[in-house]
Amino acid sequence: MAASFIPYFAVFLTLLVGASLLISTALTGVPTLSSRRPEVDDIVALLKHARLPKHALIVDLGSGWGAPVIALARAFPEASVQGMEISLFPYLVSRLRTHHLPNVSLKWGNFFHSDLDKSDAIVCYLMPSVMAKLGDFLDKALKPGTFIVSNTFLFRERRVSAVRRSGLRGTVALYIWPGRH
Ligand SMILES: C[S@@+](CC[C@H](N)C(=O)[O-])C[C@H]1O[C@@H](n2cnc3c(N)ncnc32)[C@H](O)[C@@H]1O
Repeated sequence: MAASFIPYFAVFLTLLVGASLLISTALTGVPTLSSRRPEVDDIVALLKHARLPKHALIVDLGSGWGAPVIALARAFPEASVQGMEISLFPYLVSRLRTHHLPNVSLKWGNFFHSDLDKSDAIVCYLMPSVMAKLGDFLDKALKPGTFIVSNTFLFRERRVSAVRRSGLRGTVALYIWPGRH
């Protein structure tokens, strides 16, 4: 008897997850796409190049399903890696994926309401439409000299300090904030 409910439950869960992803995308203007492996490798390589302090705080703004957070936690075992994600299901999945990593902490919420002044490095992979607003927010929220790595979408009128390209989609750029010309 109970087994007959399983297909209904699966359909319900699929619809719930789909609706939740659509609503968060509509609210933020940013889909919950994951960085691909070569892009994650480039993010790590650029932050290695940046020579972060040993116990750096690295924050992924919109940490999605957790791919960069996991790679960063492994590449910088003495750093603290923080992820902030507004979309519930990616957040829950990333919690499961990182539960064994002691240097990862994840928060569910809007990063525009977060306190970033202790960050040494910021990682993001968002959309062109939010980059200007994000730049203005980071101008107020970060201490000068904070490293920023942005996957695919660049900040306009900011000096790129180093760049890596892993194919058609994946330009990954490093900034030393505020990086004004
Ligand atoms: C393209 S995904 C990238 C995920 C992850 N950083 C990666 O590179 O694999 C962008 C994520 O940012 C999240 N996001 C967008 N705006 C946000 C906000 N204001 N606060 C928190 N998360 C946000 C979206 O829900 C989405 O999961």
